[in-house]
Amino acid sequence: MKHLLDIKSLSNDEINQIYFRANEFEKGIRKSNHLNAHIVNMFFENSTRTKMSFEMASNKIHANKYDFCANSSSISKGEEIFDTINNLCAIGMNLVILRHSDDDLIFELSKKKYFQDISFVNAGSGKSAHPTQALLDFYTLKKHFMDLKGKTVTIVGDIAHSRVAKSDIEIFKKANMNIRCLSDDIFMGEKIEGVEYFNSLKEAFEEADIIMPLRIQKERIEEKINFSEYIEKFQITKENLPYAAVLMHPGPINRDIEIRSDVLETQNARTILNQARNGVFVRMAVLDMILSSQGY
Ligand code: CP
Repeated sequence: MKHLLDIKSLSNDEINQIYFRANEFEKGIRKSNHLNAHIVNMFFENSTRTKMSFEMASNKIHANKYDFCANSSSISKGEEIFDTINNLCAIGMNLVILRHSDDDLIFELSKKKYFQDISFVNAGSGKSAHPTQALLDFYTLKKHFMDLKGKTVTIVGDIAHSRVAKSDIEIFKKANMNIRCLSDDIFMGEKIEGVEYFNSLKEAFEEADIIMPLRIQKERIEEKINFSEYIEKFQITKENLPYAAVLMHPGPINRDIEIRSDVLETQNARTILNQARNGVFVRMAVLDMILSSQGY
């Protein structure tokens, strides 16, 4: 594995390898030393979970990590990102973790012949892909259910602007899960084959094993959003949450919008912090696999 760009490019075998390696890291039965590897975190959009867990993962596998701060970098003086990364390569970086609002940038960069000695890991690209979130969601669910085949997941809310939804749908399809999306037309986006679409919460929640509300991605929406209407139709409450359903959320949560605050105190919501915790092991596994395959 040279890069991790999206879920589509991963085989089921690679996804399972990441799962088992992450599990070994979690149990403490795998240790890694990548003392010769130099990893740079390049986040052009804000992050708490992804950035911090990549940092912790890099430390735990004993790689050298560097934080590229876009605002205080020479990008603010007009340097193009291509030239910036070219210089980071020259300095000796081996792996770039990139979060960017552009859907395609990381794919374009990974194809440049100049960067043949560097690996790219997608930490979130525009509205299209967030593969490590999908891998950690898969990890969290597989640990909980063991076998995901035939399990029903309902993704609720702003699917159109969510990169998490796109990558999760890819991985849930590979796991042969039943996938439902519940939203209004403006938040639904392009229909994806193999996904069932709902406008009614009651129908979408019926016999669902997993409920996953998403934050409204205000930063990617130009139209005025009617929050009261949204809350009335789609907010998760103690009353509408199926009794035995596992509640997931990629974060950040906007309390009392997509989910009522008191729901976060219920047993159903325990999984949400497990997602964040598991993100470290999954990112250790991804970095370890890439660095090992590249000889670091
Ligand atoms: N889930 C997720 O990507 O969270 P952050 O934006 O905090 O990294």
